[in-house]
Amino acid sequence: ERGGYEHFMLKEIHEQPQVIRQALAGRIDEKGRVRLEQVFNEHVWTEIDRVNIIACGTAYHAGLMGKHLFEKILRLPTDVYHSSEFRYGDPVLSPRSLAIFVSQSGETADTLAALRLCKQRRIRTLGVVNVIGSSIARECDKTIFTQAGPEISVASTKAYTAQVIVLSLLALYIAQVQEMPGVRVDEAVAELTKLAERAETCMELEEQMKGIADMYRNMPLCFFLGRGADAHVALEGALKLKEIAYIPTQESPAGEMKHGPLALVQPGVVAMFGATEPDLRDKVVSNMQEVKARGGTIIAVTTDDDTVTSRASDDVIRVPTCVYPFMSALLSIIPMQFFAYHVARLNGCEIDQPRNLAKSVTVE
Ligand code: F6R
Repeated sequence: ERGGYEHFMLKEIHEQPQVIRQALAGRIDEKGRVRLEQVFNEHVWTEIDRVNIIACGTAYHAGLMGKHLFEKILRLPTDVYHSSEFRYGDPVLSPRSLAIFVSQSGETADTLAALRLCKQRRIRTLGVVNVIGSSIARECDKTIFTQAGPEISVASTKAYTAQVIVLSLLALYIAQVQEMPGVRVDEAVAELTKLAERAETCMELEEQMKGIADMYRNMPLCFFLGRGADAHVALEGALKLKEIAYIPTQESPAGEMKHGPLALVQPGVVAMFGATEPDLRDKVVSNMQEVKARGGTIIAVTTDDDTVTSRASDDVIRVPTCVYPFMSALLSIIPMQFFAYHVARLNGCEIDQPRNLAKSVTVE
């Protein structure tokens, strides 16, 4: 049932092109318009003045990408909360806000409790959930399913990609309903439909990542850094490495380095930089140089048209260039997943069942 793969995690990483297709299936019409009208009536979207995205772990990281898109595309103020902090944090909730709950399992206790709190306060709720029939899916006013298929590996991979795709579709759908000037929904949708094929190209990066994993498998610490969407993906890349390979990680926006974390850099330390955002690349390169000057090793994940990062990095990994930079950033999680997987494998770690972790966290 692992389909010839040694572990479910590896199978699920390789499923991502198909998962992207499935997440889009039935949600784009022949004119290239987004079809999500079963979610809320169109007038609801004009009433919403604020979005709160609430989730844990990997789903929280997908939520950060959601915030990036909601604010960039829609200029709709969006906050992302860890479910546990939201529910005990006495949140300020506008009656016109929408609460989005992102969850693969649909059973995460803190996310479910946060959902019940929003329902008590009569806030509109929307689930982005993978498991059909799960508690969060049943209790949200509306749910969009990520359609990623069962995810067996404890470390989430394909669910993350599907969550980001669904949040992108939602942002584009809201732009379409509101007829937002300046947002070319059809163009963005066309790019989304190319993403599965581009993810397939990224599968070819596995060999390269295996080699890089072999070189650095004994690293004492691995930084994950980036700016903009790359900073959000960095958090997810770091979570993968720590949870399955037990390598200590330090993840933060690249611009935060000199405010403290830079003190941890010394020879032997590795820094994985996301540099897919062309407008932020020069700034990322100066952060790379700061780490390199202190003896750190630089791995850059960038796009195939980038000509500037290679001079500052020891290893360069290239994902396809997309018209919308967040899509390249999303693709950049694939090599990071391979990196975590192969470091763990080479170090003999239990990949599908990492120590101390459970697939579905149903206790608070
Ligand atoms: C990490 C991971 C966890 C989950 C988190 C939320 O690889 O799997 O961080 O993302 O426990 O779980 P769901 O999405 O089921 O609510």
